[in-house]
Amino acid sequence: MQALDGVKILDFTHVQAGPSCTQLLAWFGADVIKIERPGSGDITRSQLRDIADVDSLYFTMLNHNKRSIELDVKSAGGQEVLIRLMQHCDVMVENFAPGALERMGFPWERIQEVNPRLILASIKGYGPGPNEDAKVYENVAQCIGGSASTTGFRDGLPLVTASQVGDAGTGLHLALGILAALYQRESTGRGQKVMAAMQDSVLNLCRVKLRDQQRLAHGPLPEYSQHGEGIPFGDVTPRAGNDSGGGQPGRVLKCKGWENDPNAYTYFVLQAPAWGAICDVIGEPDWKTAPGYDSPAARLDKLSAIFERVEQWTMERGKFEVMEICAPLNIPVGPVMSSKDLMEDPALRASGTVVELDHPTRGAYVSVGNPVKMSASHTPVTRAPLLGEHSEEILAQLGYSPEDLARLTQSGAMGRAKP
Ligand SMILES: CC(C)(COP(=O)(O)OP(=O)(O)OC[C@H]1O[C@@H](n2cnc3c(N)ncnc32)[C@H](O)[C@@H]1OP(=O)(O)O)[C@@H](O)C(=O)NCCC(=O)NCCS
Repeated sequence: MQALDGVKILDFTHVQAGPSCTQLLAWFGADVIKIERPGSGDITRSQLRDIADVDSLYFTMLNHNKRSIELDVKSAGGQEVLIRLMQHCDVMVENFAPGALERMGFPWERIQEVNPRLILASIKGYGPGPNEDAKVYENVAQCIGGSASTTGFRDGLPLVTASQVGDAGTGLHLALGILAALYQRESTGRGQKVMAAMQDSVLNLCRVKLRDQQRLAHGPLPEYSQHGEGIPFGDVTPRAGNDSGGGQPGRVLKCKGWENDPNAYTYFVLQAPAWGAICDVIGEPDWKTAPGYDSPAARLDKLSAIFERVEQWTMERGKFEVMEICAPLNIPVGPVMSSKDLMEDPALRASGTVVELDHPTRGAYVSVGNPVKMSASHTPVTRAPLLGEHSEEILAQLGYSPEDLARLTQSGAMGRAKP
């Protein structure tokens, strides 16, 4: 039994933002039917390939637990099947460029005629306004949503982050909207349009930076290292490097081996309640009561010097050793984990957040499983489907006969027949 057993999703998504949303729904147990263009499918199947003629890791890591049907939705046969799928499903999820669904012949009014209970969930780059027709990809979203201007170091370029906050962050927001719409449909009996714009989703994830923008009107931001360094603030939220964005100051500090290992670092938070333990562990017990050190406010103008002292201590220890010493003392630290560290982490394997799967053409591959754990809705992660792997099975489920299948295949609506 899974939480979304019985929920049927017509997955019209491609690239990353949409597929990350429908993958979450599939992990919670929804039946996700991915419609793909005959012959080529989702463009990511062939992007960033590591093995010739094999579905890329890009695709296989974003489309777990789904079924795939090949369908040319612009052909007459494809339109017929699409309508039947709309009648069969609870939610249609899409992240085409603005207007594509309408050009396919399915404006919202028509969708409602086909199935008034269907929820239409869309991802677009921008919400309503002058840019609503613009196409947007991940890094663009990070720039237009406020992440890039506030990420990186003061003296460097605006920086995009590796976290796919524009794509996967928007997918998460959309998934939440879909669940809310399904819940509302329980009382109204009707579907609705759900829209998550990438700009808005990134902005929601960066809301602390809008907080700081408004604080600037009332003085400098004392927790930013630039304050301690005596560098004046301008009129926009500056890039904060690795400074903590919260009320507890934090920095990335070097650990043993940093000269040769790009990830021999730890994050270290000078959390107020842990101040006594921090002073003891780094060998500065007098700082616990010394004037100028004994309260978070008093320490603010010496943060850089304090972190330098803490770093002298972390540099003598490995990043995992720092964690082993500090965690039992309730000092919030965390090693900078490389992708390799994460793939090899036994706890992540045991919890199912890192999984190993078998794929018919690529063989074994490692992926990220459902990060959300539920006590009564377990997520068995299954491999991504091959292109059109479930076309026949899905048509049969929709009530099509073998003769219908032959007709649709011959017409080209389903792509070429499999040998
Ligand atoms: C991501 C994006 C920039 C890609 O643009 P693109 O490669 O040009 O793809 P589009 O979405 O414009 O779709 C291309 C065409 O394929 C068509 N198509 C897609 N699947 C089809 C199918 N199964 N059968 C027939 N036609 C299909 C679409 O109808 C569209 O045709 P149109 O241009 O005549 O309207 C764009 O889809 C977009 O801006 N999406 C919204 C924001 C988003 O999700 N961005 C993040 C992506 S990770």
